[in-house]
Amino acid sequence: MLKYPALFAPINVGGVMLKNRIVMVPMAVNYARLNGEVSERQIAYYEARARGGAGLIIVEAACIDAPAGREGFGQILIDHPRYLRGLSQLADGIKSCGSRALIQLFHAGRQTHSIITGVQPVAPSAVACATVKDVPRELSITEVQDIRDKFIAAAGYAYMAGFDGVEVHAAHGYLINQFLSPNCNLRQDEYGGSLDNRVRLLMEIVAGIKKGFPKLVLDVRLNIDDFVPGGLEMPESLEICRRLDEAGVDLINCSCGTYESGLTSIEPASYTEGWRTYMAAAVKQVVKIPVISGGMIKKPEMAEEIIKKQQADLVFLGRALLADSNWAIKAEKGYDDEIRPCIICNNCIEDNFKGIAVSCAVNPVTGRERELTKTFKIKNKSTAVVIGGGPAGMQLALALDRYGFEVDLFEKEERLGGLLNLAAVPPHKEKIALFRDYLIKSLRRSRVSINLNHPYKLENLRDQYPDHLLVASGSKPLTPKFKGWNEKNCLQVEDILNGRFNLEGQQVVIIGGGSNGCETADFLTQSANHITIVEKEQFLAADMEKKNRRDLLNRIQAGGVKRRTSSSVIEIGNDNITIASSNGEQESLPADYVISAIGYKSNNEIYLKARKMHSSVHLIGDAFAVGGIRKAILQGETLAAMLAGQKI
Ligand SMILES: Cc1cc2nc3c(=O)[nH]c(=O)nc-3n(C[C@H](O)[C@H](O)[C@H](O)COP(=O)(O)O)c2cc1C
Ligand code: SF4
Repeated sequence: MLKYPALFAPINVGGVMLKNRIVMVPMAVNYARLNGEVSERQIAYYEARARGGAGLIIVEAACIDAPAGREGFGQILIDHPRYLRGLSQLADGIKSCGSRALIQLFHAGRQTHSIITGVQPVAPSAVACATVKDVPRELSITEVQDIRDKFIAAAGYAYMAGFDGVEVHAAHGYLINQFLSPNCNLRQDEYGGSLDNRVRLLMEIVAGIKKGFPKLVLDVRLNIDDFVPGGLEMPESLEICRRLDEAGVDLINCSCGTYESGLTSIEPASYTEGWRTYMAAAVKQVVKIPVISGGMIKKPEMAEEIIKKQQADLVFLGRALLADSNWAIKAEKGYDDEIRPCIICNNCIEDNFKGIAVSCAVNPVTGRERELTKTFKIKNKSTAVVIGGGPAGMQLALALDRYGFEVDLFEKEERLGGLLNLAAVPPHKEKIALFRDYLIKSLRRSRVSINLNHPYKLENLRDQYPDHLLVASGSKPLTPKFKGWNEKNCLQVEDILNGRFNLEGQQVVIIGGGSNGCETADFLTQSANHITIVEKEQFLAADMEKKNRRDLLNRIQAGGVKRRTSSSVIEIGNDNITIASSNGEQESLPADYVISAIGYKSNNEIYLKARKMHSSVHLIGDAFAVGGIRKAILQGETLAAMLAGQKI
């Protein structure tokens, strides 16, 4: 008996049977070769998701018109027969691993930059996107029709390559969305003005693909709301959906947001799971064809609920499948606890925007499927002691166990988790607790022997000499050297987040406006404290991913947090703190409490001693260099692979 029967009911989409309602949504991961060809790395990445059980995989945005339509390096191109070989291998790979395969057809329009393309961006009108700021050139009618034909030709390449269908990308502020949106389509000709005119390019592409390649499943990804003043809004987008249905489109993939709207197309952690469902539910009222909903869906229960309530016919997953390629198989078996949860850190999309290959903070295998999915066991018995039960130590212990090592994990605290325990406390960071709990439950299911409240003593080596001594002893807060720093009213971030001090209605000054300081401010605003952040650099939370950063800064601003940037501390008094701005002006701020958020340093003493006593000692995670969850997890996994590789 299936735990999620609605989610795992097959469905016919445009004549193609899907085994379940789970759709891997397009995510540009930048694994293509620089010449735009599909790479082996990319095929392995998609095959893993197909083997992982998704019913439908929609391959990431493939550019139909390079260079002008290209968004980034490492993007797939689909504008010439030379790409067919790689595209065929990709389509074959996905289908032979059990999923059906669509590919997304894409033109960036004004949401790209001449630094990337080498040419001026093109758009319906010469209106720059407020975030990209590269003024585009208005397309002539002949050029618009040329792009239309390139979309249709690209569908032909997809057909020849063996894809089951294509998705026309008409969302997220890219070219077709720009034509649809009144705020950036100011044309006076038949492609601008009335809805009939603005929708013309999309409808011509749809008609061309239907006519030329009637066997392809035709899907359109559409913004149901741009969330931009003057942009495409629901009443018009519902009308567009009606017309797409009439025109013979097989599937509508509902989305929203543009670069200008910022947070809605790839949400930061404060958005609730499934918040976009109302959009698909509205579309379902006006069309007969299947509708896909999604956005922030992480748990199978939520996906099941959406299908069961008939708010959508299919549910898309994006980041959840970067975090766990086997999400669907695990959900099908009801093994929800075994799904590695995405923590919405948005490191993945940050990589994408930087133009580098995407990796996932919690899943070291994403993008490294060829190197890290080998499931061999070491031949001879081998023992390892892991010191430290934070993210690096836990991931390392799990991976070593998988390779067949006998592992002893030592943690000096009474619980596992290390800094994850504190990182999960500020508002909207609860996904980190889910990830910590996932690691802990995985360890409990493994053969790793867990020793809590147990600081590892090097004297132990006399009695038990493991083959490998692996140090993941984390980090500790830097000790502030400010004049007047004392123990009375001066605290570390840890004192707040671990609940040792509950501040309410206090005047609080936080020194250090990195992500730690800002998140602590966010936490403290919940209990009516009056907070000022003092930061020596110009910007707050400069170390954070942009979407989560913007969201956090909006929140602390709304919470009344004051900022003193480009400012340094002169002296801490009994009930105040004196700071100086970069032009030397001094200011005294009231301070019942001063909190240091100036950072962490590696805690590596045991390593320095151990390496004189043991021949195989390794140091990873924050104990090696303070660097956060992604580096810790990756180092844990790769060190295990390296040690196992030496023992094959
Ligand atoms: C790394 C990354 C790349 C993305 N690339 C695309 C893309 O190529 N085409 C697209 O339509 N959406 C793209 N998106 C948006 C996703 O398809 C999806 O709408 C978004 O991530 C929200 O869904 P989720 O919460 O399930 O991740 C991308 C998202 C991420 C995280
Ligand atoms: S990088 Fe972060 S947001 Fe992206 S999938 Fe991984 S955990 Fe989720």
